[in-house]
Amino acid sequence: MKKPLPSLVGFSEKNHQWFAEGISLAKLAHDFSTPLYVYSKEAICSAYRAYDAACIRPNGTRRARIHYAMKANSNLAVLDELKQLGAGFDLVSGGELARALQIGADPKSLVFAGVGKSSAEIENALRAGVKCINVESISELQRINIIAKTLGLRAPISLRVNPDVNANTHPYISTGLKDNKFGIAFHDVLKTYREAARLPHIDVLGIDCHIGSQITSASPYLDALDKVLGLITQLQLEGITIHHLDLGGGLGIDYGGESPPNITEFTNTLLNRIEEQGFNHLEVLLEPGRSLVGNAGVLLTQVEYLKTGVDKNFCIVNAAMNDLMRPALYEAYHAIVPVQMSSAKPNQYDVVGPVCESGDWLGKDRTLAVYEGDILGILSAGAYGFVMSSNYNTRGRAAEVMVDGNQAYLVRERETPESLFNNERTLNQASTLKQK
Ligand code: LLP
Repeated sequence: MKKPLPSLVGFSEKNHQWFAEGISLAKLAHDFSTPLYVYSKEAICSAYRAYDAACIRPNGTRRARIHYAMKANSNLAVLDELKQLGAGFDLVSGGELARALQIGADPKSLVFAGVGKSSAEIENALRAGVKCINVESISELQRINIIAKTLGLRAPISLRVNPDVNANTHPYISTGLKDNKFGIAFHDVLKTYREAARLPHIDVLGIDCHIGSQITSASPYLDALDKVLGLITQLQLEGITIHHLDLGGGLGIDYGGESPPNITEFTNTLLNRIEEQGFNHLEVLLEPGRSLVGNAGVLLTQVEYLKTGVDKNFCIVNAAMNDLMRPALYEAYHAIVPVQMSSAKPNQYDVVGPVCESGDWLGKDRTLAVYEGDILGILSAGAYGFVMSSNYNTRGRAAEVMVDGNQAYLVRERETPESLFNNERTLNQASTLKQK
């Protein structure tokens, strides 16, 4: 399978060697060992700046704000760099709220989404003073009203609308179809807003929708946008004022041959449509994740063994599905490159990990010129990479490094096996603890 390499910022190949900004990937693998996630600060910041610049319209007014979907990559260093550039955040759990507060994010820059928020998560978000909770069902709305009453406040909310549009993406990452669990069914939206307007501890602020992820065309967004703008007009007629419109995230990236609209084109297309339809008064929120960090990360791994099978050759590396789950889960394609050119003969391999599952593969039918011991870079691994990693097979999760120019920072240490079972105990140990 021969696909073009994605076009990258922050990672480049010079004289047959790959670099993260000013440092060779071979040196990073040597200094920090593998498997290793490497992020480029410049790549993250330049993608953010592209979004932010497009949020300011030609007449100088700010039309939109970026709330980074931290589920894509929630390392504190990534969050802190984006916060310093002015980003707000989109959260989906109490854990993500804790991360945002840990880096000192302004609570008023936080929107809290998710289909199954627990009472404790709602209470913590309200106590923290988040900008908005995106509500996904009438039951959740009623629960928020009760919790807000106990806290003696009014909860700022948006309703997440399921617009029933097809985002033409992988079925696991499509969220705006009527069969998906997300959002409030389109035909129930008006009645749910009426209920929200009636509840004494609910403050209706906005409307929200998110149709999926890795979307490579603006047209499904425009379909969803038109439907949501229609709802805003109907709500206005009923005396329910919507102050902000949250269009979610989902802009795709180039993994190897995709050509999504670039960030500027994409943002302009949406904002132009909103202005053309006469909704200039609305504050617009965007929640990009992948398009900010996806191509800002590489997973480095070392070749352990080259093995010849009956019909296939295997390049067995020390990263696995527990480190990067996307290929196993979605059959996702990630380009794989040797970080240094070698004199090895090119051969076709399935690149696989050491985990005891046949689904543990990172790339299929790749032509690679490698020897055992060589380092490979798995590209476009900055989003939904580390954050989806697990400890399956009692494998400690990889270390993470951020490169800024000629400087590399260890932003998360590699997990040791002991750290993985520190919280466990045998029955004997547990009964001794109980007696204490
Ligand atoms: N906002 C909401 C409400 C979301 O559910 C998501 C992603 C985003 C924003 C950010 O979407 P992005 O800009 O990153 O596409 N694990 C999958 C992707 C799951 C996306 C879930 N929701 C993958 O590896 O492809």
